[in-house]
Amino acid sequence: MKKNLGPVNGLYPSLTTIVGTVVNGKPNFLAIAHVGIFNHGTPQYLSFGINKAHYSNQGIIEHKEFSVNIPSEALVVETDYVGLVSGKNTDKSAVFELHYGSLAHAPLIVACPVVMECRLHSTLDFTSHDVFVGEIVATHVAPEVLTAEGKIDFTLVKPLLFDMQGVRYLALGPEVGKCWNVGKTMKKAGGRP
Ligand SMILES: Cc1cc2nc3c(=O)[nH]c(=O)nc-3n(C[C@H](O)[C@H](O)[C@H](O)COP(=O)(O)O)c2cc1C
Repeated sequence: MKKNLGPVNGLYPSLTTIVGTVVNGKPNFLAIAHVGIFNHGTPQYLSFGINKAHYSNQGIIEHKEFSVNIPSEALVVETDYVGLVSGKNTDKSAVFELHYGSLAHAPLIVACPVVMECRLHSTLDFTSHDVFVGEIVATHVAPEVLTAEGKIDFTLVKPLLFDMQGVRYLALGPEVGKCWNVGKTMKKAGGRP
């Protein structure tokens, strides 16, 4: 018999990202592990909520641009750090070496193997949080995490998975099966496993 924990969010682990902004003329970064994917078409949109008490919000609202960076396991300390301290009282602009794409207010982290430049699409004023919806303008990927077909291989990215219950970062495990594929045998068998 399962135990009812009440309205506990069980949507974990989630991907840990670092969102980059420019606030008061300086790059600023914060950890964000609650990122939503809106669609798979063109253009592509993503969303996340930032507590209104944080410093990063004003940079996104002012410039309508930001970056979403995917850190590897090797960046666990820096990722946690930018999720612990606020740009309100700590300058985080020199934590990472940076590069830029086409958007001047979307600082990209050199050490992150996957980085996305985003343009703000819309903002939802949601109680304690600003929910930002961004359009992905460009995604830059380190060649060493690309497959021969030019796809991102997340087993090579080694992302940090955020576990809110355990309050810890988990590693990605091995492949279990191919999507839209392993279910085909069951489909053929008329819905029997
Ligand atoms: C792993 C992790 C995930 C986080 N995810 C979120 C999130 O999704 N939304 C949010 O508002 N804060 C989140 N935080 C907290 C912010 O990153 C943190 O408060 C940060 O210091 C805010 O920085 P800023 O004030 O410079 O913007 C997270 C922190 C950690 C460590």
